[in-house]
Parts: sequence; C-alpha cells; structure tokens
Amino acid sequence: MDLVRRPRRNRKSAAVRAMVAENSLSVNDFIFPMFVMEGKGVKEEIKSMPGIFRFSIDELLKELEEVVELGIKCICLFPNYPEEKKDKLASESTVEGTLYLKAIEEVKAKFPDLLIMTDVAMDPYSSDGHDGIVEDGEILNDETVEILCDMAVAQAEAGADIIGPSDMMDGRIGEIREALDDAGFTDVSIMAYTAKYASAFYGPFRDALDSAPKFGDKKTYQMDPANVQEAIMEADIDFDEGADMMMVKPAFAYLDVIKALKTNFDIPITAYNVSGEYAMIKAAAQNGWLDGEKAMMEMLLSMKRAGADIILTYFAKEAAAILKKG
Ligand code: PBG
Repeated sequence: MDLVRRPRRNRKSAAVRAMVAENSLSVNDFIFPMFVMEGKGVKEEIKSMPGIFRFSIDELLKELEEVVELGIKCICLFPNYPEEKKDKLASESTVEGTLYLKAIEEVKAKFPDLLIMTDVAMDPYSSDGHDGIVEDGEILNDETVEILCDMAVAQAEAGADIIGPSDMMDGRIGEIREALDDAGFTDVSIMAYTAKYASAFYGPFRDALDSAPKFGDKKTYQMDPANVQEAIMEADIDFDEGADMMMVKPAFAYLDVIKALKTNFDIPITAYNVSGEYAMIKAAAQNGWLDGEKAMMEMLLSMKRAGADIILTYFAKEAAAILKKG
C-alpha cells in the first residue's frame, strides 16, 4: 500500500510510545481517602473494598508512614462513628476532642507536610443517614448549611488544609467560605463537590461508614445521572462562590462531565474514583476476570485524559507503588 499516513509508526516501540504519550499519571495527582474509627490497635478491612481499612487513630498514624513514603501528598479523611453517637443534627461533628477532629490534629502534628482534606456533610453523624437535616421526610437546605459552616470551621481549627463539602446543599460554598474567612482561615481551601451524582457506585463507602440513608434516597440533593448541562450550572455557582477546586463524582461513568468542567473552568478539576469503581475492579481481579493492575492504571489514566488534574482514589497507594517502580 502506498500510505503517507501510517499512525503505527508512532507506536512501534516502547520508547516512541512513551515519547508521544499525551497523558500520564503522577503520584502528585492523587488524594488517598482513608477511614478512621474509634478504639486502639484497630485495623478492620472493609468487606466490599478489599485492601482498604478502617483504622483507629494510632493505626492510621502507622499506615501514614507508608503512604507518605510512597510520595502521596494528600489524604482525605472520613470518620466511622458508632450509631449511639449519631443524632438528627450531627451534633457530634463539632464536639471538642471528637474522633474526627482528634484524628486531624494528630495527623497534622505527626505529618505537618501531608495535606489533609476533610469531609463536610452530616451523614457520618446523622441518625437519619442523610447529608442534611431531615424534617417530615424532607432535607432542609439553609438550616443544614449553618451546621456545615460550623463543621468546616471546627475542621479548620483542627488543622485541615482543604475543606470538602460533599453534601450538595445549595449555597454552601459561599457560606462556608465566609465562615472560614470570618474565623481567620483565609488560607484554608475549599474543594467543592460540584457535580455529585445520586449514584449506585457509593455502596461500598456506605458500608465503610455504616452511613446508608435510613429512608429514601439522596435524589433531592445529589444530581440526576442523566444531566451534564446542570453540572455546568452547579460549577458556575461554586466558582462564583469561591471554590478553589471542583470535583466530579463518581468519575469513571462521568468522564464527559469531567471534560465539560475542564473545558469551561480555569480552576483544578478533581475526579472522585469512588468506592464502587474500586470494588468492581477488585472483584473482577479476584475472580481472575481482569488484570487488576492494568485495569486500575487504565481507569485512572482515563480520568487524566478526560481532563482531571487531581484524582481521589482508593487505588492511590497501589498506583503510587507502580509509578515508583517506573
Ligand atoms: C457522603 C459521601 C459519600 C461519599 C463520599 N461522601 C456517599 C454518599 O453521598 O452517600 C462516597 C464516596 C465513595 O463511594 O467512594 N457525604
């Protein structure tokens, strides 16, 4: 054949392929989500998330030696609270010395250079298992935002670097920004969960936190998987309200949404590679149906290709180890 264009020439060896690669993964892009629980000496594997654990604070600190050694720069902490500490107003979230705030303080004291992103939402502390205050089966918006502001300030006081409101209430980014600024935390960043969908892919995470909704679903606040235009509208609002970074969640089934935000906004875009996406690959790999490592790297790379600057992923440690080997 008399071909002028032979695209295969740029694929002919590992060296050429490396040279022309358009996207790559770096450990600098990863945020590692971790679960903390009460007790001492506890390291409990989450059934639906093989390789991911709930740690008591002492064990978390041990685990972090390894995480930091791998070059991971940021973790995202989530607390698992016993049922008896939960109530309708998530009161536990701002109690002085409570597990979550104590964990932030202790991690910061031991690893001052490690960034800590926190979770701002009521569900870990809510007896209703919802992200907001429930009244007559409805989730109250503005009243919830007040609680979220207190939570954010308490977390900033404990040493959080990045506040992550994962609740999807309207107007919370601006209110949280103002509350942080008023309390003197002008340097504490906000990672807005901008386009967070009402997704079945959060199942394993809710196991990890025992935080599944006690009734109904989260569709009156989390987004409809059918929509992308609405994500841009949410992003407009979060941008105007002062978000430093914006997130799309889940990631793998929403690559088009990542792309849409990356194209339209000039702040870092984050992909949350959620628990169900992790569990799918792990389950298939355990059955010998997929090469787990290769599928993981391909999944993560797809998020970079779509435009993600940052990836929150339970694979962070594993992927970091592979990247370190080179
Ligand atoms: C709740 C929250 C959820 C996740 C992070 N924060 C679950 C939910 O909205 O029900 C899910 C993360 C994951 O699945 O990995 N505020």
